[in-house]
Amino acid sequence: MKHITVLTGAGISAESGISTFRDSNGLWENHEVMDVASPEGWRKDSDLVLNFYNQRRRQLKEVFPNKGHMALVELEKKYKVHVVTQNVDNLHEQAGSSHIVHLHGELNKVRSTLDPSLVYDWTEDLNKGDFCDKGSQLRPHIVWFGEEVPLLEEAAHLTAKAEVVIIIGTSMNVYPAASLVAYAKPEAKIFYIDPNPNISYELAGLKNLEIIKEKGSVGVPRIVADLLS
Ligand code: APR
Repeated sequence: MKHITVLTGAGISAESGISTFRDSNGLWENHEVMDVASPEGWRKDSDLVLNFYNQRRRQLKEVFPNKGHMALVELEKKYKVHVVTQNVDNLHEQAGSSHIVHLHGELNKVRSTLDPSLVYDWTEDLNKGDFCDKGSQLRPHIVWFGEEVPLLEEAAHLTAKAEVVIIIGTSMNVYPAASLVAYAKPEAKIFYIDPNPNISYELAGLKNLEIIKEKGSVGVPRIVADLLS
């Protein structure tokens, strides 16, 4: 079975009603990104950060996967598919994808501020005084700016072994996620589906790159149908 690795960003969830980042002037739901997505922001105002992610977590209960997420599940009929997502939502899970790597963490998980290996499933609000098993405050299980990306090596390995790489809905602005495509085999076919694609340094040199300037709900089902036919 051939391997397909799919690299998704905020754009694939846009049509489910979740805002992207860079379409809203660098603000994330009206907040400066560094206030809500950095260790400095957490130290400065952890109530704001907890509340911010509580709102995002609540939103997950109201959103559904769209045709883009759903089409990726169909690919599993014929290919070994791995989804590497920068998204912290659970829409690939809701759609039914089998193998998902969350490069930037997950809203529905929290972890200890003392011992990062203590990770818990968490679907409700997270508050001050919610402690890990070792008695320290829990924080969102999100990779913030300036923090290590623990699953990067796995994502690079998955990209390197794919015959086909499909990039969907990402501005290719945030590293190291944007550099993953550089691990693709020289002969791998690369699709980039985005209504406003950004031909980054990594993409510019690729000879097998096909750009599909469409929304995810249109471009993804089309490429999936081609790959299945
Ligand atoms: N279908 C597909 N793509 C879309 C759609 C759509 N309907 N609507 C918008 N897009 C595209 C935009 O053209 C843009 O290229 O989605 C991309 C969104 O880019 P960003 O907002 O920069 O999101 P992303 O690339 O995922 O950001 C990366 O930045 O703030 C951090 O950690 C956060 O994971 C996030 C990372």
